[in-house]
Amino acid sequence: MIKVPHLMLEGLNLSLIRQDHPIINGVNLNVGNTGICGLVGANGSGKTTLISLMAGLITPDAGEVRMTGMGGMAPSPLRIGLMMQKPVIMRRSIYGNCDYVLAAQGVAAHERKARIEEGLALVNLYALRHQDARTLSSGEQQRMALARVLIADPGVLLCDEATSNLDPQSTRMIEAIVKSKAKDGLPVLWVTHNLAQLRRLASRVVFMDQGRVLAEQEISDFFEAPASKEARDYLYFESV
Ligand SMILES: Nc1ncnc2c1ncn2[C@@H]1O[C@H](COP(=O)(O)OP(=O)(O)OP(=O)(O)O)[C@@H](O)[C@H]1O
Ligand SMILES: [Mg+2]
Repeated sequence: MIKVPHLMLEGLNLSLIRQDHPIINGVNLNVGNTGICGLVGANGSGKTTLISLMAGLITPDAGEVRMTGMGGMAPSPLRIGLMMQKPVIMRRSIYGNCDYVLAAQGVAAHERKARIEEGLALVNLYALRHQDARTLSSGEQQRMALARVLIADPGVLLCDEATSNLDPQSTRMIEAIVKSKAKDGLPVLWVTHNLAQLRRLASRVVFMDQGRVLAEQEISDFFEAPASKEARDYLYFESV
């Protein structure tokens, strides 16, 4: 796949109020090219909401998301790659789902074909490329979603529980792909409840609780000496 200039995403003092309640509360978050940044926290702590803010899907009530182009590339929201828990599947074949995205970006037809075939081979879906994407298993749909996001050449990648429906083998395949992209300099934010996976992937961890960031640490420090009581409690069940 082609090499791309990357983006740095920075959330500054982000807040989001819903029903008089701050569901994101003064959060600062930096997604840069220093390895994969893990984002963890209990159900309802605000991870998906924060990713949606970072991706520009929702507008914060306070604060801002700043995007910096690296390597002389102008920043553009179109270059934010996003994988949510449930991928949006269009009523087309796998190939058609991928083609739609590249056509919308204005990529020429002959280049689209090469990129799509390479992307689908990467997630082991090439043989199924003509199948209606809505008939795929949920794990296959997630793999398709990853191929679709990668062939679109993202400048930054935000993943929300991207492997939660995948079997162990597919999970490791996706991890290897994302790891290699991050090694090439692609900034990655990775939300997961899978702590073993967090150890395998992340170099830095951001821990959220009730809409706030309560710890931001190197991965080994996070597991050895979590920087808040809430983070310690979150990790407790890993050890029992
Ligand atoms: N539009 C909304 N109106 C009211 N409350 C909302 C809205 N969107 C999200 N919330 C609340 O904000 C909190 C954070 O939700 P979010 O989906 O970001 O959590 P999460 O950390 O991703 O959880 P999970 O691990 O279960 O995916 C939840 O309590 C949710 O109910
Ligand atoms: Mg979520």
